[in-house]
Amino acid sequence: MADLIVTIDGPAASGKSTVARLLARKLGASFLDTGAMYRVVTLAAIRAGADLSDQRQLLDVMDESEFKFSAEQDKMLVFLDGTDVTERLRDRQVTDNARYIASAPKVRQKLVGMQRVFAATELKIVTEGRDQGTVAFADADIKFFLTAEPAERARRRLAEMPAGDGLSLEQVQSDIERRDKSDRDRAVGPLKPADDAIVVDTTDLNIDEVVDKLFGFVKEKCLKDG
Ligand code: DC
Repeated sequence: MADLIVTIDGPAASGKSTVARLLARKLGASFLDTGAMYRVVTLAAIRAGADLSDQRQLLDVMDESEFKFSAEQDKMLVFLDGTDVTERLRDRQVTDNARYIASAPKVRQKLVGMQRVFAATELKIVTEGRDQGTVAFADADIKFFLTAEPAERARRRLAEMPAGDGLSLEQVQSDIERRDKSDRDRAVGPLKPADDAIVVDTTDLNIDEVVDKLFGFVKEKCLKDG
């Protein structure tokens, strides 16, 4: 297992990915975007024409597909059957359907296994998702849970969308609230802070402020010579 495991969980558009990427860079750690793992299984299942609500079909798609996650210090490339699909994973169709994949217990079990294999091959990791501190790495060195008001998360998400998407702030916020509910209500790996997680409300903080804050906690708790 990696010498240093930092987990960052939190709801959609709470800034986890960007913060995890920048924190990984600061720590010289590899960055694991576990949402991308759920997204690539979603993409593979859509392409295979599978019934997304049928766990058996999802497991078959996983068995028949080749997934590769290439960790760089501050980015993660995702390959499906040898093709780089990183840019496809944010497509609306994938985002809208990922909840089916995320609520299939056996699919989650397999993905958590892949996340642990990843951790076993890296020296230091910063991993982000919904269940990293509660399920995948319950004994992580340090755990964070990022939150932000839904309206602020919607504003951030809208700002990163291509102008052509044509969605209103209200539509983006209601999508986010629907995803929050589906993440929180799921029977397996639901979205919730681990008992020992440090909860950080990022509503009034910019990215650099969040990264500095988390880095400060990591230094204090985990880096003896820092
Ligand atoms: O963080 P994201 O938006 O890329 O996540 C994509 C989907 O995967 C979303 O439906 C939540 C789900 N997910 C999960 O259930 N567990 C994780 N560890 C990461 C993501």
